[in-house]
Amino acid sequence: AAYETIRVEQRGRVGWITLDRPEALNALNTQTMRDVVAAAEAFDADEGVGAIVVTGSEKAFAAGADIKEMEQKSGLDMMLTDHFGAWARFAAVRTPVIAAVSGYALGGGCELALMCDVILASDRAKFGQPEVQLGVIPGMGGTQRLVRALGYYKAAELVLTGRMIDAAEAERAGLVSRVVPAAELLDAAESTARTIAEKPLPALYAAKAALDVALESTLAEGVRFERQAFASLFDTADQKEGMAAFREKRSPSFTHR
Ligand code: HXC
Repeated sequence: AAYETIRVEQRGRVGWITLDRPEALNALNTQTMRDVVAAAEAFDADEGVGAIVVTGSEKAFAAGADIKEMEQKSGLDMMLTDHFGAWARFAAVRTPVIAAVSGYALGGGCELALMCDVILASDRAKFGQPEVQLGVIPGMGGTQRLVRALGYYKAAELVLTGRMIDAAEAERAGLVSRVVPAAELLDAAESTARTIAEKPLPALYAAKAALDVALESTLAEGVRFERQAFASLFDTADQKEGMAAFREKRSPSFTHR
């Protein structure tokens, strides 16, 4: 597929999606949404891909939804076109997704990172939900995912003030998995993605699905889901191989089946 606003590359079992609208600090317009969703779904459909990395530039992961594209729309336009609704398909990807964030991750950019499973931040990353300053609110899940990730009071302060936080504060708040020096961000993303992608694909799918249920359901439902997903993995070749390799004191050789 030809993409207009992103660069896409596969290295081994890792799929890379790089936002590429430098003139707009990678602001997410409708075309970017289409490109990112299509690329993520294509990687997701490929059993040769076990992890996806989404990144931007050193200056900006993404400075938000594209304000210039949205400005003149009516509420009816937004509703009828389900503006940005397709991002739900990005969040539904079964393959683990790593956000490698440097520079601005604001508004929809922060929310895109929040749809990923691991957030690696460079020490130059800046996160925020500045939408109230524009007369709107987060619209790609920010109010919901921030409350779940950070707790109510930290999330509410960020959403109500629009204040930007740096990588260190984001790490303390639990908004990022790990902070690394800016020069090491892509290497850290590559090695984290490779570590994940080498694991048995059925176990990765099951683990991500169970983690998602934790955000969406009660403890009892989640534990029931986990137990079933756990049981189903005993029908995979990779479970037999992983456990045999442990017993035989050798490294496993997974087939991702
Ligand atoms: C459209 C954007 C943009 C955005 C930056 N640009 N952010 N265009 N939408 N979100 C454009 C600028 O207009 C400018 O283009 C170019 O990118 C460079 O930006 P500058 O402002 O000149 O850079 P700088 O001075 O370094 O300031 C960086 C910044 C600032 C602090 C990140 O750009 C900024 O505040 N951006 C908006 C952040 C924001 O409010 N995001 C939330 C969006 S609402 P020109 O052509 O003028 O030079 C949102 C809602 C989500 O995300 C809900 C989804 C439905």
